[in-house]
Amino acid sequence: MSIIEVKNVTKQFGKFTALDGVDMQVNKGEVYGFIGPNGAGKSTTIRILLGIIKASKGSVQIFGKDAWQEAVSIHERIAYVPGDVNLWPNLTGGEVIDLFTKLRGKVDKGRREELMERFELDPTKKCRTYSKGNRQKVALVSAFASEADLYILDEPTSGLDPLMERVFQECVLEAKDAGKSVLLSSHILSEVERLCDRVGIIRQGKMIESGSMSELRHLTRTNLLVQTKQTMGDLGKIEGVHDLEEKEGAFSFQVDSEKLDGVIRYLSSFGIEKLESAPPNLEDLFMRHYEGDREPMREGEQDA
Ligand SMILES: Nc1ncnc2c1ncn2[C@@H]1O[C@H](COP(=O)(O)OP(=O)(O)O)[C@@H](O)[C@H]1O
Ligand SMILES: [Mg+2]
Repeated sequence: MSIIEVKNVTKQFGKFTALDGVDMQVNKGEVYGFIGPNGAGKSTTIRILLGIIKASKGSVQIFGKDAWQEAVSIHERIAYVPGDVNLWPNLTGGEVIDLFTKLRGKVDKGRREELMERFELDPTKKCRTYSKGNRQKVALVSAFASEADLYILDEPTSGLDPLMERVFQECVLEAKDAGKSVLLSSHILSEVERLCDRVGIIRQGKMIESGSMSELRHLTRTNLLVQTKQTMGDLGKIEGVHDLEEKEGAFSFQVDSEKLDGVIRYLSSFGIEKLESAPPNLEDLFMRHYEGDREPMREGEQDA
């Protein structure tokens, strides 16, 4: 069953087209990653889903209801975490959590306490004294302590340290295990890779790819730095290897993620002495995969 159904949505801000024919479908029990560089249109799409702004064209349904017309009844079943959380400066974190969760009706007090502990949030401090990360924790605790069927999370981890990011990921997986649906936006592919059943990639207001992570494997490359005991043959000739460079006896290069297995096998036949890997970077991926879409820049020209 589809929980979110976005069809051919366009959003104009004056003459500027922020969204151009966006389609998106999120099924029940699914974690959907909504990925794209800054300014791509993620928050605009989410604001349309929440009924905060109205699409210029197209249809937007949540739980089979129109997101604009029936926003009030839809909201009873949604928990939302914005990327930049602004809280009431004079309330404490605990008071804001109470307010948020009470607004939503059903509150699970035990769950709320448990989440504050896991996120290491001190609820007695006034919000004005909180860092960005702490403000984000307040919103996350409020969301995950709420009984919701759909969690809409707009770049919710941008202020969290890696340890708290782990807690966040656990919470998302717990929601999924409980049969809830999650829409999670991010500009970092590797951050959501672990969590998402499917991802949609948006760029300049257009959905350019969507599918399961394995379906999108062809888009990603892993960065490797390798040193072997024996001298290798010509690594540059191996299928899937790109941008090979030698650095002080080690080789750095990129490998198409779907060719990783074969490349590692090849490397290990020379005895691996050192191996470092870094996940693919989304911006690199965009640049490479879609560089053919646009006119090459001439010298002196500015990128828009
Ligand atoms: N209210 C608005 N008026 C005019 N332009 C806007 C408005 N909101 C967003 N935009 C523009 O729409 C584009 C998409 O923004 P946004 O959805 O916030 O991107 P993202 O969340 O992916 O970083 C950006 O170019 C942004 O400047
Ligand atoms: Mg945004």
